[in-house]
Amino acid sequence: MRFASSFFLRVVIVLSLAVSFASAQQAPAPDPVFVLPGVTGFTSLPNGIDIRAGAAHEQIVALRDDVVRIRVSRTEALPEDASWAVLAGARASRVPVTPLIRGSSIGFATKQLRVAVDRTTLELTIRDADGNIVQQDARPIVFHGDAFQIAKTMPLDEHFFGLGDKTGPLDRRDEAFTLWNTDSYRFQESTDPIYKSIPFFITYEAGRAAGVLLDNTWRSSFDFGKESRDSYSFGAENGPIDYYVFYGPTPKQVVKTYAWLTGTPPLPPLWSLGYQQSRYSYYPQSQVLEIAAHLRADRIPADAIYLDIDYQDHNRPFTVDQSRFPDFPGMIAKLNADNFHVVAITDLHIAKYPDHGYFPYDDGTANDEFVKNPDGSVYTGVVWPGPSVFPDFTRRQSRVWWGKLYRNFYDMGIAGFWNDMNEPSIFDSPTKTMPLDVVHRIDEPGFRTRTATHAEIHNVYGMENSRATFEGLLALKPDVRPFVLTRASYAGGQRYAATWTGDNSSTWNHLRMTTPMLENLGLSGFVFAGADVGGYAGTPTPDLLTKWFEIAAFQPIDRDHTEKGSAMQEPWVSGPEQEAIRRRFIETRYRLMPYFYTVAEESSRTGLPIVRPLFLEFPDAAPDRHPLDDDLAASAEFLFGPDLLIAPAPFSDLMDVYPVEFPSADWYDFWTGERIRKTQVHHPPVVGQPANPADQVPMQISLHPELATLPVFVRAGTILPMEPLVESTNQTPQGPLTLRIYPGDPGEGASCSGSLYLDDGKTMAYRRGDFLRMQFTCGMSDHELHIHIGAHEGSYPAWWKEIHAEVYGLNPASPAVHVESNGRSIPATRSAQSIDFTIVDDGKGIDLDLH
Ligand code: GLC
Repeated sequence: MRFASSFFLRVVIVLSLAVSFASAQQAPAPDPVFVLPGVTGFTSLPNGIDIRAGAAHEQIVALRDDVVRIRVSRTEALPEDASWAVLAGARASRVPVTPLIRGSSIGFATKQLRVAVDRTTLELTIRDADGNIVQQDARPIVFHGDAFQIAKTMPLDEHFFGLGDKTGPLDRRDEAFTLWNTDSYRFQESTDPIYKSIPFFITYEAGRAAGVLLDNTWRSSFDFGKESRDSYSFGAENGPIDYYVFYGPTPKQVVKTYAWLTGTPPLPPLWSLGYQQSRYSYYPQSQVLEIAAHLRADRIPADAIYLDIDYQDHNRPFTVDQSRFPDFPGMIAKLNADNFHVVAITDLHIAKYPDHGYFPYDDGTANDEFVKNPDGSVYTGVVWPGPSVFPDFTRRQSRVWWGKLYRNFYDMGIAGFWNDMNEPSIFDSPTKTMPLDVVHRIDEPGFRTRTATHAEIHNVYGMENSRATFEGLLALKPDVRPFVLTRASYAGGQRYAATWTGDNSSTWNHLRMTTPMLENLGLSGFVFAGADVGGYAGTPTPDLLTKWFEIAAFQPIDRDHTEKGSAMQEPWVSGPEQEAIRRRFIETRYRLMPYFYTVAEESSRTGLPIVRPLFLEFPDAAPDRHPLDDDLAASAEFLFGPDLLIAPAPFSDLMDVYPVEFPSADWYDFWTGERIRKTQVHHPPVVGQPANPADQVPMQISLHPELATLPVFVRAGTILPMEPLVESTNQTPQGPLTLRIYPGDPGEGASCSGSLYLDDGKTMAYRRGDFLRMQFTCGMSDHELHIHIGAHEGSYPAWWKEIHAEVYGLNPASPAVHVESNGRSIPATRSAQSIDFTIVDDGKGIDLDLH
C-alpha cells in the first residue's frame, strides 16, 4: 500500500517534471523539479550507510544509538561537514551499526533505532527497537532548483513543539512557519517570521517524542500540517540537506540530546536572575540614578538597570553622550556600590563616521572588518546612528576585534551587554535587512575558508554577533561569567547569550502569548529568556502591568522594559496598592532563589528548561497521552522548574471562574500550604458508549481570578529550599535556610526529595570545586516521617548556620509532634498547615524523625 502510494507520487512528480520540461521548450529558465532516482549503489559503513542514486549522494550515520544524521546532495559532493549549530564533538561522534540489507530497502540498526531507505524511492523510515515509527518520509525529497522539501507522515495524534519563540499556540500542529530573522516591532499573534531562526522541533505522539534539527541557515520553512492533512514538511530555499533525527522516547531526553548536539547555556551570573529594570531610555544620568534609588527606597528587590541607546553619542556604539552623562564612570561606580549591575546596549552596527576619531569605524576600516558589497566596497545601511557598517562576524578575526571593543566599558564596571538589532535590522532597505548578495567571509573550523552571500549567513549573523561579545568578554575577564542579551539568534545561540522575545505590546493578549513563547524557547535551548514585562509597545493598564509582574516573577529573565514615548512602567507607577502586589511577587522570586538557581545550574548541565510545559514533566498525564498543555483548562499553566506549577487564568483580563488542571494527583498550594483535594472531574459517559479515555481529564479545581493573587502549586514530594529576603543577589541572606517539605502520597511512603546548588554566583570558581551541593529526602515508615538533610558537598561555604524546616501535609489533628535528631528532642511549633522547627546545620548531614 505504501509502495503503491509512493509509486503514484513519483508518477505525479515525474509528470510535472515532464510538464515543466515541455514548457521549457518555449519559456527559458524554468524552475526544474528534480526527484532523486532510485538507489544505484551503496556501501555499508561501520557507523551508517553511504548511498548513490545516479549522480546524487546520501549518507546516513549514527552519532549515538539514538541519534542519526542525514546528509543528501544532488551531486557527488556531500554537504560540508560543518555547522554553526552542532558541536564538532557531537558531529564526530559515532557508534557501530549493524547493516540491514533487504530486497526493498537498505539501511542499518543501532541498539535503539532501525534505519531503512527504500531502494526505489529513497524514502527514509526510522523505527524504534519495538518497531514504532519514529519518522517516515511521506514522499521522496523534492528539489525545485536550489530549494528542497522533505515531507514526513503525520499521524492524527502527532504534536509539534520547538522552533524557538515563534508566535501562536504552544503546539505547532496545523501551523506553518518561515525562518528568516526579522525585526518585528509590534509583532502580533500570527506574525511570522520574527527575530530568531531555530530550525529544531520535537515531534510528540502518544507520549513518545523525537527531535529533528534541520541544520541549514538559509531561509527555511516548516509546515506542520497546514498544507497537508497527513504529512508535515520542512525545507530551505538553498543550502545543505543536513538534518538530525533523535529519539527520546521521553520529551526530556529529546531536549537533553538537543543540548548534547548544540550545547547547553553557560551558568549565568546570579544577578541576571534577579529583577531587571529597563526602558528606552533612562537619561540623563540623574534619571538613571533616581530610578535606582527609587527601587531601593521602595524596597523592591532589584539587580540590574539598563542603558538603552540614548546614553550613546548620536547612537554610536561604544561611545557616551557626555552632555547627558557628564560623569559616566562615576554613575556606574555609584550604581555598583548600591548593588546594581549595569547592562549597556551595544548594537552591532558601527556608525560610518570617518575622520572624527571614532575608533570602532576607523580601526575596523583599517583592519578590513566589515561586510562588503559584491563589488568589494564596504556595505552601508542606515540604522540608529544613520549610515552604518557591519562587522563580519562569521570571521574569527572580526569577532576577536569586536570583542576587544568592550574593554573600556567592561573595565569601568558595566556588567552585561545587550546586542540588539542583529537580525540585522536595516532601516533604509525594502527588505528591512541587508541585500542578499552582501558578501560575508567564513573562517570557521569545519567550513572551507570561503565567502558566502548574506542569503546564507543572514540567520546566523545575530548569533555570531552575540558569540563575538560573549567570547570577547571571556577573553577580557576569564574568571567572570559574561552576561549577553541578544535579540536574533540561531540554533546553538544559547551557548553565548540569553534572549528576549523582542518588541511585544502592552496588551492582555501579549501577556498570554509570553508563556508559549518562553516555553518553546526553553525547549529549543534558550533556557534564559524573558519578554518585556508590561509590554514594549504602548502603555499597559495598571492591572495588566500588575498581572504581568506576577507571572514574570516565575520566568527566567524578569525585565521590565518599554519603548520611547510610552508612559513610565516601573513597579510603582500605578500607586501604592498596585506597587505592593508587584513588590510581593518580586520578593517571592528572590525568596525562591535557592530553588531557582538550583534549577538554573541543572539547565546549564543538561539543557532542560526552567519554564517547562506540562507535557515535558508529565508526558503520561492524560490517559491517551496527549500533551496536557493542549487542554483549554491547562493552556496558560506552566512549570517553573520541575516542582512549581504556575496557573494563571487562560484569559487574565476576564473575571470568570476558571479551571486549573493538574498534571498529577497530588499538589499543595504554595501560598497557604494546603493540600489540594482530589476532586477528579469526569465527563459524564454517554449512555451506551464505551468510556473514551480522552474524556477522563486529570484532577481539576475551579478558581476565581483575583488581581492580587496568582495560583502557584508545589508538587507533592518536593523539598523546596528558600531564603530570607535580600534587596539584591549581592547581599548575603541573613538567617536560616528554609526547607519547605511537602511529603508525597502517604500510601506510597510519603517520599519527597529536593536539592540545592550554591556558589559565588559570579566567577568560574565553581568549575574548580568551589560550590555547595546538598540533597534532601523524606519518607514515612512506622508512622514516623524521616527527614534526611545531606552533608555539604563542595568547598563553597553556606551563608546559613541553621535550617528552618516547615513540614506540610501531616495530619493537623494529631496531638503533640515530636521531632528528634540523633536521639535529641527538638522544639517544634505548629502553624495552620505546617510543623515548623529550626536545627543547626554543621554541614555534616542531619537525620530527623517526626512522630
Ligand atoms: C529595539 C529593541 C528595543 C530597544 C530599542 C532601542 O526596538 O527591541 O528593546 O529598546 O530597539 O534600542
